[in-house]
Amino acid sequence: MSTTRFLTGITTSGTPHLGNYVGSIRPSVQASLRADVQSFYFLADYHALIKIDEPARIQRSTLEIAASWLAAGLDPERVIFYRQSDVPEIPELTWFLTCVLGKGVLNRAHAYKAAVDKNTAAGVDPDADVSAGLFMYPVLMGADILMFNAHHVPVGRDQVQHIEMARDMANSFNHRYGQHFVPPEAAVDDNVATLPGLDGRKMSKSYDNTIPLFASRSELQKLINSIVTDSKQPGEPKSTEGSALFQIYQAFASPQETQAFAQDFAQGIAWGEAKQTVFERIDSELSPMRQAYQNLMNNPQQIEDILQQGAAKARAIATPFMAQLRHAVGLRNLSAQSATAQAAAKASLPTFKQYREKDGQFYFKLHDAQGQLLLQSAGFAEPKDAGRAIADLQALGLSALSNQKVAILLGDDINPEVVESALAALREAKAQAKKSD
Ligand code: TRP
Repeated sequence: MSTTRFLTGITTSGTPHLGNYVGSIRPSVQASLRADVQSFYFLADYHALIKIDEPARIQRSTLEIAASWLAAGLDPERVIFYRQSDVPEIPELTWFLTCVLGKGVLNRAHAYKAAVDKNTAAGVDPDADVSAGLFMYPVLMGADILMFNAHHVPVGRDQVQHIEMARDMANSFNHRYGQHFVPPEAAVDDNVATLPGLDGRKMSKSYDNTIPLFASRSELQKLINSIVTDSKQPGEPKSTEGSALFQIYQAFASPQETQAFAQDFAQGIAWGEAKQTVFERIDSELSPMRQAYQNLMNNPQQIEDILQQGAAKARAIATPFMAQLRHAVGLRNLSAQSATAQAAAKASLPTFKQYREKDGQFYFKLHDAQGQLLLQSAGFAEPKDAGRAIADLQALGLSALSNQKVAILLGDDINPEVVESALAALREAKAQAKKSD
């Protein structure tokens, strides 16, 4: 059975909300239970630095997101669960990928383009307030994925472009340096809902319309009560189409429950009652996790230990892989002569060539690297005798000529010193090859 590697990260820039749970945490915990899947889940805290310059908030968010994942059932024994900044190979790989990715690709990244468009519309410099970090965001994300050669990256549609860029980086690197990376694929699950927020737009920190995943029971109830609805009165049939309340319910309920709820809508359920149904349904799924979450939040050291163990597992993969990549690009120990230098040295060596003539006898020639004839033997009756003469010449130089039974002549206009140094070069190359064996 071949294992497929799944990898996904959450940026540690806020408090996890129901949208994160439905869109990412819940499906990834489910996927991690499959036997044929190896899962990598991480806290993308380097990514958080792009948006957040409040250190305490980064720390708080990292704790909350880690606790949420664990409370939702992620088993750190089963998966590789780590914090991005505990794997220093990731920013190192980011630089390698930076050097193979066209800048134009980044110019087209949605998040960067949106910032530029906004500035352009406001009549200010297109790059005003755009950090180089925002521009480079997709490369860091590519490094996250390629570091572990993930096959599938479960993401929302808004992230698909980033996965395509990661493929681009993988292919460019492979093209230059040989096969090192698996081009990843985005896994967009159409069954995974994009949750609307309190105001009906997509639930997102940037719209400030979220419901925190582990709000207390009473807070959860209050927030659900504040979800926008239309002004239809009790008894009036209500449309499920475009109803944020209905969509949120659907993300937690079975198809049968959803169907029954749709019927309630058609029959004019009061909004207050509908909200109560939604609240009860969500709370029944979340309340057991809420307790686990609170316990974890009260034990940050426990989470820290889990993350350290995860980092050790991640680095057991990343460190040797990075060593391989460093070697591939030429960041190498200087005492180890490179393969290309060896090949170049070999190409500049003189060569002996043995052959048989029509007369049935065995001959050899010595050419220099440029193909000029240095030595030409007369015919030997036996090939092993020709071989022995070559071995003697290599070992002893031209002094070996004196005790040969067969004539060995210098090429036209060839100075014996040139032949002597050619034989010496061969001798030295042989000694080198022996040493590195
Ligand atoms: N960009 C993702 C987000 O904002 C988080 C993330 C960072 C990520 N690196 C990743 C997701 C690698 C998947 C794979 O949600």
